[in-house]
Amino acid sequence: MASGRVLVLGGGGREHAIAWKLAAEAGVDEVVVAPGSGGIGDEPGVRVLREVELLDPASVVAAALASGADLVVVGPEAPLAAGVADALEGAGVAVFGPSRAAARLETSKAFCHAVAEAAGVPMARSRAFAGGEAGAALGWIRELDAEGLRAVLKADGLAAGKGVVVCESLEQALELAPSFLVGRSADQPALVVEERLEGREASVIAICDGDDAVALPAARDHKRLCDGDLGPNTGGMGAYSPLPDLDDRAVEAIVESVHRPLLAEMARRGTPFRGFLYAGLMLTAAGPRLLECNVRLGDPEAQVILPRVAGDLAGLLFAAAHGDLATMGRRAVAASGEAAVGIVLAARGYPGDPRRGDPIDGIEAARSQGALVFHAGTVKRPAGGFGTNGGRVLAVVGRGPSLADARRAAERAADAISWDGVERRHDIAAELPEPAHLVGAAR
Ligand code: AMP
Ligand code: GLY
Repeated sequence: MASGRVLVLGGGGREHAIAWKLAAEAGVDEVVVAPGSGGIGDEPGVRVLREVELLDPASVVAAALASGADLVVVGPEAPLAAGVADALEGAGVAVFGPSRAAARLETSKAFCHAVAEAAGVPMARSRAFAGGEAGAALGWIRELDAEGLRAVLKADGLAAGKGVVVCESLEQALELAPSFLVGRSADQPALVVEERLEGREASVIAICDGDDAVALPAARDHKRLCDGDLGPNTGGMGAYSPLPDLDDRAVEAIVESVHRPLLAEMARRGTPFRGFLYAGLMLTAAGPRLLECNVRLGDPEAQVILPRVAGDLAGLLFAAAHGDLATMGRRAVAASGEAAVGIVLAARGYPGDPRRGDPIDGIEAARSQGALVFHAGTVKRPAGGFGTNGGRVLAVVGRGPSLADARRAAERAADAISWDGVERRHDIAAELPEPAHLVGAAR
């Protein structure tokens, strides 16, 4: 794409980061974000198109044609699961994001396990259960326990990162498992029970065109609500990049041993994967294990990864949308030497029912320190400024020569922002792992 217009679908912090990155690139004339948010629309070079129904493929095609987009980048998973990429492709619009069939890597955990197994990509040992199979599920939980392993219970289907219980005890697993199967049909898996793996997590995301993959810098999300990794799982409360325990060579080895085999298996099944392929990994003592696939960038990982992408992102996405990634001659994007730490500011009540409508102070003060502030759940107030309008409200990103510097910058900027009921973690990137060259990535 010599130059052109990009339509970004979505309106959260991840989409703000995508729009911010693309709008700054020489090859991009304009970024349109649909439906966007008040905060995204204030970004220079970014226009918001509100009138779109993201889960309605016809509405998305109409928005793409009306905006004259040369490329559509799909942010969240739900429109992909609704077939938006298929519809855009059918209408002759270049789209970066997988078909509905390929999006099953995220929408069905049982499908992801089946593809990974066929591809030889190691995951946690697991079994899937349908309605009426509670007895079998309890039997498998007891089998794991006999080996000294705890269980992880996962609802099969999209749950925005919140349908997972990492059990602390046998009793908890036995008590909770049957509730996943109540009222579920006997012909579809509703519960996946996995062995609980130990280690540090890492998010390794690659730009994929069906055959080929180009690695983005790795990031680490902090999924629990509270400091010390306590409290419920959320969509993510903060992230950092790069990872001391996963250097560039290790990231490329993971793309080689995880992403490429998954792409090959998806192509073999006749459902090639094009889009951001996100491998959620546990770095165990025995090597990396795939915990889950997502079919999009992570949120808040995107907010720390994209500021570190030094080169041209639009060109890669455009090439990938056309199946031409190999012509770009890269195995990984060029990353800046800077580190980035992102802290999510959430509204009281998140991840349950968040309180809305509180006026937000300090966004400009944070930006004037040099921090990036990405909007996730905000609304413009008639009186000026922004108010809270969702669970995760903002992501504040600090940058610096080291993770410690970036963390200080992020903490200081996050301190500058306040509203009644703001919740956040104070330990994002606080405890860094020892540098490691390669954590058994090459299996
Ligand atoms: P998922 O939606 O599958 O990524 O699960 C959400 C979170 O639960 C992950 O990011 C992990 O923190 C945790 N988790 C998932 N599966 C496992 C597992 N097999 N062992 C330990 N923790 C897990
Ligand atoms: N931060 C985790 C995710 O985007 O799924």
